[in-house]
Parts: sequence; C-alpha cells; structure tokens
Amino acid sequence: ALISMRQMLDHAAEHGYGIPAFNVNNLEQMRAIMEAADRTDSPVIIQASAGARKYAGAPFLRHLILAAVEEFPHIPVAMHQDHGTSPAVCQRSIQLGFSSVMMDGSLGEDGKTPMDYDYNVDVTRRTVEMAHACGVSVEGELGCLGSLETGMAGEEDGVGAEGKLDREQLLTDPEEAAEFVKATHVDALAIAIGTSHGAYKFTRPPTGDTLSIQRIKEIHARIPDTHLVMHGSSSVPQEWLDVINQYGGEIPETYGVPVSEIVEGIKHGVRKVNVDTDLRLASTGAVRRFLAQNPAEFDPRKFLKETVSAMRDVCINRYESFGAAGNA
Ligand code: G3H
Ligand code: 13P
Ligand code: NA
Ligand code: ZN
Repeated sequence: ALISMRQMLDHAAEHGYGIPAFNVNNLEQMRAIMEAADRTDSPVIIQASAGARKYAGAPFLRHLILAAVEEFPHIPVAMHQDHGTSPAVCQRSIQLGFSSVMMDGSLGEDGKTPMDYDYNVDVTRRTVEMAHACGVSVEGELGCLGSLETGMAGEEDGVGAEGKLDREQLLTDPEEAAEFVKATHVDALAIAIGTSHGAYKFTRPPTGDTLSIQRIKEIHARIPDTHLVMHGSSSVPQEWLDVINQYGGEIPETYGVPVSEIVEGIKHGVRKVNVDTDLRLASTGAVRRFLAQNPAEFDPRKFLKETVSAMRDVCINRYESFGAAGNA
C-alpha cells in the first residue's frame, strides 16, 4: 500500500532502524527494489529525481510505482520526490500522487546555487503548508551537501552546488537546524555531514575526519523528534568497481560511505538513507560482464535481467544492514 513517509519514518524511529531510499528511473531498478523488499520484508521508499522525470517521464514513473504497489500489496511504499527545487515543483508532484516531497531549499531553482537561510525557510515553509494540507510529508535540507575531504558537491549533471564549498557550508549547524525545524515544521531533515552525491566522494577510505558522525549526534541531540536524512550515502562497492574495470570500464580509484558508518548514523537519528550510485554501479558492472562473457547475445532482457539481480543483492544488503528488514 502507498503510505506517507512520515508514518514510515515514525515507525523506524520508534524501533531504531533506518530505511534506504532508492532512486528509480526504470523498470529494472523498480523490480530490484521490490523483490529485495519482498524477500526481506522491508518497508520501501522509492524516490524520483528531476533527472528521472526527464528520463522516464513523470507519468511513467508514477505508474511504475503504482505497479509496484499493485504487485506487492503487502509492502508499504512511500513515493517520494527527490530534490524538488521549488514549491511549484513539489506541488506538481503532489498532484501526481506522490506521498512525500523533498523541498531542497539549500540550492536555488537551478539546483546549483547555494541559497541563504531565509530563502530556505521561506520555500520550505510554503511547501510544508501545501503538502501537509494534502497529507503529504516533507523533507527539507539545511547545509550544502559536499565532501568534507574535497569540498566538492560531487554530481556533474545532477543536483549539487557548483564550485568549492567551505567547511562552514559542509556541516549543518545544530542550532540552526533547531531553528529551521521550528520555523518550517518539516517531517524530515537532510543534513550535511561530509557526504556528497555520486561515485567520487573520497579519494581514500573515509575516516573520522572525512565524515562527521559526531555532527549527526549533535544535531540529533538538539532535534530528537526530527527524522534525519543522509544523502549521498552510496558505499561505492569496490567489488563492483573491479567488475566494471575488469570488463572494459575505466573508473578511477574512489571510495563511498562505509555501511558501518551509516549504521552508526542510524543509532543517532538517521532514518532515511539515500542510495542511487550503488545501484548504477551494480547495474553497469552486470551489463559489462554479461556482454563480455556472452558476445553473441543481443536480447536486452538477457543483460537487463542480470542488472536486476545485481541491484537486488545491493538492496537486500542495505535493507538488512540498516535494520529495515522484518518491518514491512
Ligand atoms: O540526488 C541525486 C540522485 O543521485 C539523483 O541523480 O539527478 O542524476 O537522477 P539524478
Ligand atoms: P548517492 O549518489 O551516494 O547514491 O546519493 C544519492 C542521493 O543522495 C539521492 O538524493
Ligand atoms: Na530526498
Ligand atoms: Zn540527494
């Protein structure tokens, strides 16, 4: 059944687990996520970005999610709009039937320009007023997502600030977070703690000074009733990088957020964990390997099926590691 994200995250908070929020663009990702949730008995957050709407078209995305609910009626699903850039964008998603929206007021309508606190409060508060009137949950963002190591937002053509960010912007201030939640009434808050979008988060395995679990603790202590969201939470599995590079890919050495660090965050109020890149890597590795090993095959279903099982395994691992398994 389609349920609000608030309801889902409240349950996660009550029972101390986190829910991975996977990005969806196509049928194969959808299948992988739902089959993994079905096997592990997990609640599901499916999110669609502006890039996904551009790729698949909003009606196709909507019906993909509705199809998931129809085929897996026993699994609770939240249909979330990722990184909305204005109240108008959020309004259109609500009209389409999304049960949750993110108003990312940390960046401007272009999704690239860091905005000030007052702008963020204004657009987020307006979105909350509209969304709550329709029973739709809202995620806000305070601070600019970017790698504490490189100072860069990460994504090239997706969401993310342009240019180098300073340390001030890269860590959400706990006091400001408390003020922001009070002023906007958001259900969930995405915080900046040193993660960034995409595959290139860290040039070496992250340690205590590249990712601030300490900051999560401080924010959670200040706003214990607000569900915290970690964006840029792909772990960039080294085994998939190896498969990609073994079969013709050229991805330089790079590191993501270790699952163990995310689990630590979940102990301190993180309830929604955004993962997109890991499914892209698994999917690409599966295609490269299959086509290299089966050069005479040309039926796309053959290699797309491989992507489903590769992504499904990643999803199962995250549902289990984050403690969502068994909570559908
Ligand atoms: O927030 C970034 C997500 O990974 C979505 O990426 O904008 O390329 O669809 P995208
Ligand atoms: P990754 O690029 O780390 O998968 O992050 C995805 C994300 O935050 C989507 O909003
Ligand atoms: Na989001
Ligand atoms: Zn994000």
